[in-house]
Amino acid sequence: MQAKDKKYRTALIGTGWWGMNILREAMAAGQSQVIAMCDVDENQITPAAAEVTRLSGDQPKLYKDYREMLAKEKPEVVIVGTPDHWHALIAIAAVESGAHVYVEKPISHTINEGRAMVNAARAAKRVMQVGTHRRISPHNISGRDFIRSGKVGKIGMVRCFVHYGGGPEKVEPNTEPPKGLDWEMWCGPAPLRPFNKKIHTRGFRNFLDYANGTLGDWGIHWIDQILWITGEKYPRKVFSTGGRQIAGPVVNTKEAQTTDAPDHQLAAFEFEQFTVSWEHRRFGANNAEKTHP
Ligand SMILES: NC(=O)c1ccc[n+]([C@@H]2O[C@H](COP(=O)([O-])OP(=O)(O)OC[C@H]3O[C@@H](n4cnc5c(N)ncnc54)[C@H](O)[C@@H]3O)[C@@H](O)[C@H]2O)c1
Repeated sequence: MQAKDKKYRTALIGTGWWGMNILREAMAAGQSQVIAMCDVDENQITPAAAEVTRLSGDQPKLYKDYREMLAKEKPEVVIVGTPDHWHALIAIAAVESGAHVYVEKPISHTINEGRAMVNAARAAKRVMQVGTHRRISPHNISGRDFIRSGKVGKIGMVRCFVHYGGGPEKVEPNTEPPKGLDWEMWCGPAPLRPFNKKIHTRGFRNFLDYANGTLGDWGIHWIDQILWITGEKYPRKVFSTGGRQIAGPVVNTKEAQTTDAPDHQLAAFEFEQFTVSWEHRRFGANNAEKTHP
């Protein structure tokens, strides 16, 4: 059998918005048989599994605990689409079980976790790819080639920014977790907070226990592009400041929560050849700086 005809035994861990986006692409590429899916929330995995069957005819086995899934199913490819605070433990367990891994960005929640993931992938001789998918978008590739051709001249400074609309943040009451969600397992290695619908689904990005705010969510895409295009590896110096002057004070009580990531942040990265500035705001978006609808 030609390698291109082989179907890889593929599993998805974290069956939310982006995990399913990646799995749909894997199914469309024609080299994946979806043998298993895992999520701590039945409300997420049930429709996701039905969609897989509808699209591909595959009938994946469903799991709540990724350790049990890896041990029983021995997938060849694992896609990790969980929130950031789970990436490292799950990706490491997956390569150690023998799978190649596609882990969503950001690689990890902390720098040391990322290093541990690289070490684990190398020790297991497995591929671990990260969802910085702009590296394969045709327009980004042509932009990279144009910059590398030297036609823009020498680059002294790079600006990157992301701005959303927004304003003062409303405090949201905590509730019981929805039926079918194992909230303790969702929090996993991170602090166990009371359940709040601001966190799950998708809102974890702006809670520093689980992610790194807009810089960790969007900034990593832009900074990855800069490293990819220029071949730089890391900055010599980084400094940053920000705050929540518009969103308002952080609330985290037994009764209610707000997010706790900065509503704006400036960061300067000093590289050998140029300086990079990062800027985000979650207020005062305007058309001139629009990066997101
Ligand atoms: N590459 C990109 O452009 C891109 C775009 C969007 C999201 N992402 C990344 O994808 C990841 C998921 O984001 P999302 O927006 O899809 O969030 P989401 O909330 O829609 O989905 C996350 C899912 O993971 C599940 N989960 C949590 N802990 C789990 C565990 N231990 N085992 C199994 N499942 C678990 C949750 O229940 C949820 O269904 C994030 O890391 C995010 O940064 C990447």
